[in-house]
Amino acid sequence: MTNRVRIAPSILSADFGRLADEVRAVEAAGADSVHIDVMDGRFVPNITIGPVVIEAVRRATTLPLDVHLMMVEPEKYIDDFVKAGASILTVHQEACPHLHRTLQQIRAAGAKPSVVLNPGTSLGTIDEVLGEVSQVLLMSVNPGFGGQAFIAATVDKVRRLRATLDGRGLQHVDIEVDGGINPTTAKLVVAAGANVLVAGNAVFKSADYRAAISALR
Ligand code: DX5
Ligand code: ZN
Repeated sequence: MTNRVRIAPSILSADFGRLADEVRAVEAAGADSVHIDVMDGRFVPNITIGPVVIEAVRRATTLPLDVHLMMVEPEKYIDDFVKAGASILTVHQEACPHLHRTLQQIRAAGAKPSVVLNPGTSLGTIDEVLGEVSQVLLMSVNPGFGGQAFIAATVDKVRRLRATLDGRGLQHVDIEVDGGINPTTAKLVVAAGANVLVAGNAVFKSADYRAAISALR
């Protein structure tokens, strides 16, 4: 990849009492997008936020909003999330029996379609939809919480996905990695072919957001 690595701070690790300020701070510090984790307490064992909070984030920044839906039946809420301001909408393969249709629904609603795999789900499960997406997100932790340790097997998964995309003329598809990203793991996944990195704790638990973001590039 000749493109510069893009950093998407995850607001899951932000101070929610000062959310708009936190979002403005990462924008000023050089973030490329804002990653928003939607959790429903069913697909993952945690509950976070929904469209009304995304609307508030939308008002605080001009950066693209990278919305990661960790929920069952995401197809029921796609229009709501796009209306709330999602620029990129990511759905889990594991939550979508009609994945192809759901990705088309996202594009028709006006957002960029993106698909995500849990660490335990193989790349073959998205082979048939690679031509439908702007981005593939590979989870490098089991989703649900910030601050977990990076799963090392993700590096080879990134490498295999990049080779598949290159082989099929899909170089434009972004590979995003989410979970346990720090300056060390960032280097590994970027060398393997990732070009978008989600970072929660590595940015929001740091004293200097600008330095933390630069250290990941
Ligand atoms: C985990 C979320 C992540 C999380 C990453 O389920 O999808 O986006 O915020 O947090 P860190 O970077 O701290 O692992
Ligand atoms: Zn996420």
